[in-house]
Amino acid sequence: MEIEPLHEDFGVRVRGFDLTAPLDSEEIALLHRLVDDYSVVLFPAQRMTDEAQMLLTSSLGEPEENHVIYGRTGELVYIGTVGNVIDGQTQRDESDPHTQSMKGNNLWHSDSSFRAVPSYISILHAYEVPKRGGATEFVSQRAAYKRLSGTKQTAIQDLHVLHDYVFSRTKTAPVHDNHAASLPPIEQKLVRSNPNNGLQNYYVGAHARSIVGWGGIESRLLIDELNALATRQEYRWTQFWTPGDTLFWDNRCILHRGTGYDADRYRRNMRQTRVRGLGPTLSE
Ligand code: OGA
Ligand code: MN
Repeated sequence: MEIEPLHEDFGVRVRGFDLTAPLDSEEIALLHRLVDDYSVVLFPAQRMTDEAQMLLTSSLGEPEENHVIYGRTGELVYIGTVGNVIDGQTQRDESDPHTQSMKGNNLWHSDSSFRAVPSYISILHAYEVPKRGGATEFVSQRAAYKRLSGTKQTAIQDLHVLHDYVFSRTKTAPVHDNHAASLPPIEQKLVRSNPNNGLQNYYVGAHARSIVGWGGIESRLLIDELNALATRQEYRWTQFWTPGDTLFWDNRCILHRGTGYDADRYRRNMRQTRVRGLGPTLSE
């Protein structure tokens, strides 16, 4: 196995590890450790299938259901398409409401930060990628927290934040009534600690709506400041997808966003699963 860094703040590329083979407990522990320590882990050239991705996801914890389908219909589905592909011949174009709704992913966010138990790891595998566009950007809120002054770290240490899917996503596309009703705003800790290595980070992103107990203007100023500090150009690492890439990211401390592509011209077929967090952030 070979490991090389992706960015000085976070991330590693791992070659020589087959994610689709049955994994023993040492290999599973290694995957958790890579996520704990590096936050983003890229495994190129994986011969992935949906079945193998589900097995991999279950071996890392409890799979998290797709909240869009669950919120609309109550149906539990654990793997979903990111992109516009429907099947081998058909894809959604720019005018399709689903394509529009996916554009919400182009705001910096942490997956499911608006759920009582937010995501731990997201696993995204690329099958088909556009010739132009379609890259995904990442930044570390752990590195960003470390860059704050000690005074600022102390000032934000015990704050709580409301995360609200409807607040963030209605900026780019309408949210289905049932889906909206299934996702009331959720209170999260602003500062989180990794349970295994103790490293701290702040936890904001697009779904962060307001600071609990603070006025609207003060809330926005702080959340915008923290988001802006985390996502500065020089702190970003961009994943330019190649088919066969499987990427893990740690939603506890990473922000990510899509950069968009032309759905009228290109097909994009990626499959995503998520591992649920261990519990609400307020009991961490
Ligand atoms: C996601 C996501 C961004 C992209 O899969 O959770 O936000 O580039 N993806 O598709
Ligand atoms: Mn996402």
